[in-house]
Amino acid sequence: MNSLSTEMLQTTFILSFGDYLMANDRAPLSGDGIYKTRDPHDIEVPDEIFTERLILRAPRAGDGTEVNHAVCESLDHLKQWMEWATRVPSIAETEALQNQALRDFMDRRHFSFNTYIRTERTFIGIPALYNIDWSVPKLEIGYWLRAGWEGRGLMTEAVRALIDFAFNTLGMERVEIRSDPRNARSTAIPKRLGFALEGVLRNERRTPVGTLRDTAVYALLRDSMKLRPANGVSA
Ligand SMILES: CC(C)(COP(=O)(O)OP(=O)(O)OC[C@H]1O[C@@H](n2cnc3c(N)ncnc32)[C@H](O)[C@@H]1OP(=O)(O)O)[C@@H](O)C(=O)NCCC(=O)NCCS
Repeated sequence: MNSLSTEMLQTTFILSFGDYLMANDRAPLSGDGIYKTRDPHDIEVPDEIFTERLILRAPRAGDGTEVNHAVCESLDHLKQWMEWATRVPSIAETEALQNQALRDFMDRRHFSFNTYIRTERTFIGIPALYNIDWSVPKLEIGYWLRAGWEGRGLMTEAVRALIDFAFNTLGMERVEIRSDPRNARSTAIPKRLGFALEGVLRNERRTPVGTLRDTAVYALLRDSMKLRPANGVSA
């Protein structure tokens, strides 16, 4: 990570997206007609994404304290739905998780975005891209908001930006959102953004308190976004 100015990073993002499109025009056509994926490390990934009201940025060393305070404040609403939110974490534990998230971001294994209100730099939650399968390529988006920041459309705005990032920068073919069907605020996000409900997996996992629960699978495809083919092309 570096300490480039906001303007420089915006320029970096625009340039890297342009480079991506140019590279995409030379997408890997394998002579034998076998689908060929790009090396994800060749994809230039911005460490900040700007939306109308938000800055989504890669984790940085030292973020643990602020994220820890937000998790502690939000535990009551998180623990109903998030498996990891079972107890108050220490700042050292959150910092260690942030450092791991930074390494995963650099390794293209998992993109977690610490998200802030643009005008006041208040940390409001984390949307993340995970379970990435580069062989398709496809991924899932997950999210949580800091208590007190619900009901303003902020996570929908962040997820919309990450859908664009997933299809246009990472070249994904499929983006999924999986949720407990009883989590109405969570399932409202893919519905609002035009995802199709593909099915409900019954007794697919356990809730944070250990009872069995279903999982609704929502998906959005590159085709439905009317984008051109991405990483690899079958000849
Ligand atoms: C899931 C979660 C992020 C959803 O939060 P949210 O505030 O409902 O989502 P958004 O930020 O997109 O806001 C949508 C709300 O803002 C309203 N809104 C206001 N302005 C809006 C705008 N410009 N665009 C969209 N919605 C807007 C919507 O009507 C909606 O409110 P409503 O449900 O009362 O109708 C939040 O409930 C949460 O963190 N839950 C705990 C963790 C969790 O469950 N994560 C998901 C696990 S699968």
